[in-house]
Formats: sequence, C-alpha cells, structure tokens
Amino acid sequence: MNDALWYKDAIIYQLHVKAFLDSNADGIGDFRGLTDKLDYLQDLGITALWLLPMYPSPFKDDGYDISDYLDIHKHYGTLKDFQEFLDEAHRRNLRVITELVINHTSDQHPWFQDARRSPSSPYRDYYVWSDSDQKYSGTRIIFTDTERSNWSWDPDAKAYYWHRFFSHQPDLNFDHPRVREEVIDIMKFWLDKGVDGLRVDAVPYLVEREGTSCENLPETHEVLKEIRRAVDAGYPDRMLLAEANQWPADVRPYFANGDEFHMAFHFPLMPRIFMAIKKEDRHPITDILRQTPPIPPNCQWALFLRNHDELTLEMVTADERDYLYREYCTDPRMKINIGIRRRLASLMDNDRRKIELLNSLLFTMPGTPILYYGDELGMGDNIYLGDRNGVRTPMQWTGDRNAGFSRAETAQLYLPLNVDPVFGYQALNVEAQLRVPNSLLKWTKRILTVRKKHRTFGRGTLEFLNPSNRAILAYVRKFEGETLLIVNNLASTAQPVELDLRRFIGTDVIELLGETKFPRVAEHPYQLSLTPYGYFWFQLASSHGARR
Ligand code: BGC
Repeated sequence: MNDALWYKDAIIYQLHVKAFLDSNADGIGDFRGLTDKLDYLQDLGITALWLLPMYPSPFKDDGYDISDYLDIHKHYGTLKDFQEFLDEAHRRNLRVITELVINHTSDQHPWFQDARRSPSSPYRDYYVWSDSDQKYSGTRIIFTDTERSNWSWDPDAKAYYWHRFFSHQPDLNFDHPRVREEVIDIMKFWLDKGVDGLRVDAVPYLVEREGTSCENLPETHEVLKEIRRAVDAGYPDRMLLAEANQWPADVRPYFANGDEFHMAFHFPLMPRIFMAIKKEDRHPITDILRQTPPIPPNCQWALFLRNHDELTLEMVTADERDYLYREYCTDPRMKINIGIRRRLASLMDNDRRKIELLNSLLFTMPGTPILYYGDELGMGDNIYLGDRNGVRTPMQWTGDRNAGFSRAETAQLYLPLNVDPVFGYQALNVEAQLRVPNSLLKWTKRILTVRKKHRTFGRGTLEFLNPSNRAILAYVRKFEGETLLIVNNLASTAQPVELDLRRFIGTDVIELLGETKFPRVAEHPYQLSLTPYGYFWFQLASSHGARR
C-alpha cells in the first residue's frame, strides 16, 4: 500500500453509500451495508472506491449541498461506522476516495445561517455578497434548467449572494483567509481518518473577478496550490482529483508542475467516445487526445464513461451537441441541463458488444479508469425520475424482494428500484450474473484481472496507428520494455484492417484475454479482421521470450 503513485495503477469504482446496501431496513444504504459488500468489490477486482458525498445535508443536490463537513449523514451511520468501513477496506487493500465539496455549502450550513443574519456576523465574509445582481455578468450559468442567475436575493441578509450551482448552494468566498483555513482543516480531518484521496468538486469556480468568466482564474490556482501544499506537508501518499469540466488546455494548469492536482477527469474525451461509436469513425477520439497536452510524470488522467451526473455535453461544439442529442436522446426526458441522463447500458441499446467495446476503450486508453456502480452489470436508468436520480437507483443484488438491497417496505426505498422488463432487478442482478459464465459481470472481472497484470495500461505512453480504415482505432502503449497494441472496431459491421507494424518485425503477437498466439509480425502489413464492435488487446513480445 505504500507506492506514492498508486493512483496510476488504480481501478476506481464510484458508488453512492445510499445506493449500495441497506443494513438497518430504513430504505437507505449505509456504511454497515457497504462494509458487508466489500468482499464483492474486492472480488470484482477494483482497487479503489470513490464515495459520493456522505455528510449531513438537506439532500437538495444529493448530498453536494453540505450542512456539516465533519460528520456522516445519520442515514448512512456514524463516524464510527465510517472508520470501520475504512479500516475494512484497507484490510482488503482497497483505497478510499471521498468528496471535498468546497466551492459552496448548503444554505442550511451554520456558517450561512449566521452570515445571513447580520453584516457583522463573523461568517458574513465566508460568502460572496452584493447589492446588485449585475456583478460578474460574464459568468455562464451551469444548471440551465433550473437557474436564471448566479445571484439570489436573501431577504434576511438584504443582499444578493453568489452561487454557481443551485440557489440553495451559496459559494464560499476564497478571498477570505479564514475560508481557506477552514477548508484545509476539513480536509485534514478526513485525511487523519485515513482517507486515501479526495475528489475536489467544481474546482474552476472558487474565485470571482470582474470582467472575467470567473473560471480557471490564477487566484483559484493559488488556492488549490495552498491545499496541495497542506497535503504534501502531512500526507505525502494521498491523492487529489480535480473535477474541472473544461477543455484540455484549461485543465492542464490544474496539474501545474506536478504540484497542484495528482489527477483530473478528462471530460472532453468522454462524449467523443460516444460520438465515435455512433459515427463509426475514430477521429473524435484521436483529435481530442492529440489536443491534450502532456502532463507531469506524477500526474494522471481519470477516465470514465458514465457517472452520477448527466453525460455532460459542455465540452463539445454546438454541432457535436446536436448530433449527440439526436442520436442518444430519443425521448426529451433523457435531456437535463446540457447533457443526457442515461446509463451506459441503455445508451448502448443494451448491446453487449457495444458495452464491451466502450469498456475496452476505458480500460486501455492512457489514464485511470473509473467504473460507475451497476455498470458492471449493465444496469439501466429510469428517465421518469427527477433531476439525475434516474441513474442513482439501488444496486441490484438479487431477484428477491427489493433486489436484495433492503428489507424495508418497498415504498420506503430512497428511490424506486428499476423494474423495467429489460433492465429490472428481477432479471438483471449480481446473483444471476454470477451464475452465468459469460455474464457482463464475469466479463468485467476477467478484463480487470488482465488490466491489473500490465502496469503499461496505467503508466504507458500512447501512440496512434493510422490505418486507412477510419472505423479502426488502434494504438500502441509502452512502458518499461513492455509493448501493448490495442485494436478496436467502432463499426457495427465486420471490418478488415492492415497495420504498419514494421518496427516490430519478428515479435510474437499474443492476445491477452485468451493468451492466444497470433501470427508473428513480418515484413508485410499486419492484417486483422474484427467482428462488429470487436477489439483486441495484444502484447508484442520478442520470440525468444524478452518483451519489447
Ligand atoms: C457534482 C454534481 C453537483 C454539483 C454541484 C458537481 O460537480 O458532480 O452532482 O450537482 O457539483 O454541487
């Protein structure tokens, strides 16, 4: 457990405590339930868990509206339950990443409650106030479906307060030194408990300045560097992950010289994966990765297909957005804000070949993959639920009552179970998939085993090959003498490809999932035929045993 770069080799599983297992029959998952399911997660083969917000909250934004940073929501248990969970996870060599949501608090947080009462409150300057709602007018609105302005009037304070998200989430004022100290104290509280990493929410928006977009400002980077210095000073093996939904050139500064964030999500890559498979053309993927600047050696991209939010389309052009809406939103209910609220399996029309192909990309492109809970089974969504709740329904363990998730009354569950004829828990659940050798769950386990055998996936360089068939996305990954060749067919039809592998002449080609020997690389172009949405993960090894 003591490799400081552990996050480069990690496979992260993202989950919501409330969605995993309910141990006390109140209809809401909790830490005791999650602790009981650590064996499942260990067996799946993931190496780290990322937990969505677990703190006291009025739950108007699923816990991203925090009213106390130093406790556990009573629905989920106690700090003691959390510590037991953390220790049990560590005992299984699983790392734990939690949320640091610092751009804003809930309006129910005692700081805001006090601040609004009087201009002389010691907490008044913890937030951003104004007499007018015209300041910072160059700033975009993020939650376009619900918010008309980034300012809201507070009748008690008799002033407007600034918020980048919902109006019940006032932004903290990072120009105030006490706010920065408070945030660092909160962070240390969780790091002292042994948390291995923190996903820092909404980092581009910490500081506001007139005449700017109020995103990615140098002053924001200064705050983040201060946070990183506190991590390095006391907790050298921990990891900070940036949620910065921005273009690659604007995300790059969050890595700075390896002294700001260790990791950052690659937001623009994600929708382009969905575009490439629809267009049967590799260019959306190769273009965005070519535009992605190199990052310092101690840094890493976080890759994902789906998460707890909408499939955000903020980082695509207007034309690309129209295309993705047209192709993936057959019902207007599937849209929310600037994105699509659906899960992976339903986006892929429940086509196992497509689900595998997208996972093949997720697990072989440069970065650390993040799996969203339930996607290892191919769970579906429920677009009739409000906000982004359709992708946050209970985990489907068995075909029994309440999917084995809870012993509460069915009506008491925090969200209804998926009972769709295709994706419903009666047919689609962990128990059933563990019985079937070729289930998606078993396939996911296999693919994770292979991924973990080769550090090249997490650490290696990337070089695209350019075969004339644009439906084929092929790349070489290299690390410490190992060479991997990944070939993906983005088309719904069988495709031939000729790869120029002359620099590898004489090497053996070994398919990694079946350990099957393919023809050796020779002078002539290397010919492959791929089934619809087929993929190959090859190792290129010199025939006398030494790896290339
Ligand atoms: C989280 C969202 C949340 C927002 C505001 C985000 O970046 O991922 O789920 O609604 O922050 O807190």
